[in-house]
Amino acid sequence: MNLRENTIHCGNAFDLINRLDDESVDLIVCDGPYGVTDNDWDKIPSIQEFNLDLIRRFSKKLTNGGALYLFGKHDCIDFIDYRPFLTLRSRIVWYQPSRLAQGRLSYTNNYDTICYFVKGGRPRCYNLDSIRVPQLVELEHRLRCERVPSVLNGQYGKTKFNDLGKNPGDVWGDIKQLTYKSKELVSREALNTIQKPERLIERLVLASSTPGDLVVDPFAGVGTCPVVCARHGRRFHGFESNPAFVSQGLKRLAAARSGPGQELFKLTYVT
Ligand SMILES: C[S@@+](CC[C@H](N)C(=O)[O-])C[C@H]1O[C@@H](n2cnc3c(N)ncnc32)[C@H](O)[C@@H]1O
Repeated sequence: MNLRENTIHCGNAFDLINRLDDESVDLIVCDGPYGVTDNDWDKIPSIQEFNLDLIRRFSKKLTNGGALYLFGKHDCIDFIDYRPFLTLRSRIVWYQPSRLAQGRLSYTNNYDTICYFVKGGRPRCYNLDSIRVPQLVELEHRLRCERVPSVLNGQYGKTKFNDLGKNPGDVWGDIKQLTYKSKELVSREALNTIQKPERLIERLVLASSTPGDLVVDPFAGVGTCPVVCARHGRRFHGFESNPAFVSQGLKRLAAARSGPGQELFKLTYVT
């Protein structure tokens, strides 16, 4: 309802999302509060209650079969009942082995979770071929596996491997968190608690949307998801409450418009 597409809007996500029609959004990527840092926007009394409210309100905007990804820590959806609104299809572990902080009272936390929800249970799209990863271990074992009896392929048939690669699974250790040296990092302030790697967001966008689909990033930060959507020809709305992040995100979007993938971007970008 009267909200310009393909840009980042400054404001509160819970107000802005009300300006979208119900059942009009194909994918929502929620990398919002985790409830664990000292950032003002992250001071949430109960992250579980916050996430339940988010799921209740945002799921109304999803098309049937549309996906919602929710970032958080291991307990971010514990003891809340999201089932009337969405189906949890995967709980992805984004593993980051290089974290330096050492636990003193428990095990050092080495991962974030990304909950993959679908409205109605069956995804309207899951583009596996767009997100396959190399079969490193499998290829090493390939020769040894070739004469393994298989119920699918006959008693001594060959085990079949997809030459495009395999499903990335639900533990992702192949995408590293940004460092001070990462070319895509917009500022030191954005490191750690703000900016996510483009490759990470790209995997979600490619898997759960197709060109021309509408994607919403309610907590856009410095614009990673909008940039990825622009590159891949998805329509999008970004929402972000911090005006400084909004302008950093808009700068990245402008650069994406003149970078690789600009043809697709021009198809969807409305000025
Ligand atoms: C983890 S960061 C997102 C980073 C983003 N994925 C990126 O790569 O740049 C979370 C962002 O949500 C914003 N935020 C938190 N609560 C918000 C709200 N209610 N409405 C809009 N933005 C909010 C914060 O300012 C912060 O920039």
